[in-house]
Amino acid sequence: MSPEMPTSAFELLPEGTHRVLVTGGAGFIGGAVARRLLTGSSATIFNLDKLGYASDLTGIEFTLAELGAAALARHQLLRMDLTDAEATAAAVAAASSGCAAALTGRS
Ligand SMILES: NC(=O)c1ccc[n+]([C@@H]2O[C@H](COP(=O)([O-])OP(=O)(O)OC[C@H]3O[C@@H](n4cnc5c(N)ncnc54)[C@H](O)[C@@H]3O)[C@@H](O)[C@H]2O)c1
Repeated sequence: MSPEMPTSAFELLPEGTHRVLVTGGAGFIGGAVARRLLTGSSATIFNLDKLGYASDLTGIEFTLAELGAAALARHQLLRMDLTDAEATAAAVAAASSGCAAALTGRS
């Protein structure tokens, strides 16, 4: 790995990031990103997911339980279909006030 490459995903987050919007955060990749952000940062995660057949929130719920009650508010699940432009715009507007990063894991 070159010296310029970040060694942690958190180095990619702008300094002072408090809110991160993750799409497909109930899926395999998005869920891993959400859990990593919950354990490795203090950011609140806005998880936009329609909760389809491949979705599983068990890992996130387990992580939240491990972190304790104070962490519960750091995971905001917004159940919605991203193909619905109007609903997506409203959810992004609600979630992205002060949001400095958006990560996507939807299929
Ligand atoms: N898993 C891998 O190894 C891998 C490797 C390379 C690329 N990818 C790509 O990364 C993306 C995510 O992969 P994954 O394995 O996490 O998939 P996944 O199926 O486990 O998770 C996808 C999540 O996105 C949600 N989603 C899908 N369409 C949606 C929509 N219209 N609105 C709201 N939510 C929606 C689903 O409900 C699900 O929770 C995919 O595009 C996949 O092709 C995955």
